[in-house]
Amino acid sequence: MKEKIRFSSKLGLIAATVGSAVGLGNIWRFPAEVQENGGAAFLLIYLACVCILGIPVMLAEFSVGRAARADAIHTFQKLTPGKPWWLIGVLGVLASFIILGFYLVVSGWTLEYLFASVSGSLFTPDEPSGSVNFGAKMQEYVQTDVRPIVFTLLMIAINAIVLWRGVKKGIEKLSNVLMPLLFLLLVIFCCVSLSLPDASKGLKYFFSPDFSKINGSVIISALGQAFFSLSLGLGVLITYASYFPGSTRLGRTAATVSLLDLMVAILMGIIIFPVVTSFGISDSESLRGGTLVFVTIPEVFTHMECTRLWSSLFFLLISVAALTSTISLGQVSVAFLQDSLHWSRRKAIVCVFLPLVPVSLACSLSQGSWNSFRILGYNLFDFLDCFATNYLLPIGALLLCVYVGWILPKNTLRDQLTNHGSICAVWAPAVSMAIKYIAPPLIFIILISNAL
Ligand code: PFF
Repeated sequence: MKEKIRFSSKLGLIAATVGSAVGLGNIWRFPAEVQENGGAAFLLIYLACVCILGIPVMLAEFSVGRAARADAIHTFQKLTPGKPWWLIGVLGVLASFIILGFYLVVSGWTLEYLFASVSGSLFTPDEPSGSVNFGAKMQEYVQTDVRPIVFTLLMIAINAIVLWRGVKKGIEKLSNVLMPLLFLLLVIFCCVSLSLPDASKGLKYFFSPDFSKINGSVIISALGQAFFSLSLGLGVLITYASYFPGSTRLGRTAATVSLLDLMVAILMGIIIFPVVTSFGISDSESLRGGTLVFVTIPEVFTHMECTRLWSSLFFLLISVAALTSTISLGQVSVAFLQDSLHWSRRKAIVCVFLPLVPVSLACSLSQGSWNSFRILGYNLFDFLDCFATNYLLPIGALLLCVYVGWILPKNTLRDQLTNHGSICAVWAPAVSMAIKYIAPPLIFIILISNAL
């Protein structure tokens, strides 16, 4: 039997896993959540969610992935043969494919904005007064048919090329370059932001807690954010952990990945809030998702010197964050076809990315001329987003926790957390308790509240 691939260095496996975690979730959802939900109070709640729920669920995924050394579906077949638990893996592969379908479209937009920033076309005036209407630009770049499709296809091609090169030469090598670049860009933007006139006011807002805003729905929203941001519940971490060497300390790895992911979210706050106060942005809509990234931030760049340079660097930052997340999502399906069906990597990639083309293109068109085609009141893009992130992801995580907590022999988790007894992990019983008793009811509450 072929020797299973391993990441070649500790740094490489951390870079790849952090690459999966750090994505549009940190950049485009986090600042708005903080602004709407009590500044640092939300940050504290989010931190608690990461510790109580995020890290234990991450460790559950790491443990089964490394114990079985297989893809998301085969892992369950290997650990509990003859039982239907592999369906958890099916859910993961399905959900990661669906998320990839629309995430590639957004990644395509970021690439489109990167090109438009470098060429300068993003800043060509479109009003008689000579100013640029970024809202109209966004409509033109996102809601027309052809342009976004071209960039979505480009993003699909880049992903396929990276995965074609394999885990070590593709995913690991790329993450080793892109993750340091991402942190460097974040630090540069922090310095720029902190030099703005009202930076201290923004920071004060970000770091002072307003607990009166905290209620049940804020906590649910923090839990959901932690899930999406840490890439939990989709089999991505099971797949990546199957490439971890036996000597990797899973506890340390989970803590490092969660901390770095949190750090990116905090750095984003340090970048955004000085901008908010210095440019007098008061409505939270300006900080939400696409509006923040494609309208508010480019508008801010026009008030600075070297507009094109800053804008190019910013969209490079976002494209990098998006790319490392999409390749992790793609690897779930590719690994399944390779491991479970014994297909060659190339055949697997063709069979994953070819069907992705129509799915992503339909998602892209659903922002444009297909917008009137509705499923339960949503266009296709929003429907898939809502269905996968609100339902498939928590259901997958819930079943995984039940499986690891109640079905898997106890020693499998313990062996993985302690590297078969060779390292001391005093926290291991607490993690096991959290997976068994705390995570399932909390995830169940998220699910119910998403359904209501
Ligand atoms: N964690 C990524 C983000 O914050 O944007 C999104 C993501 C990637 C979710 C991979 C799930 C996943 F499996």
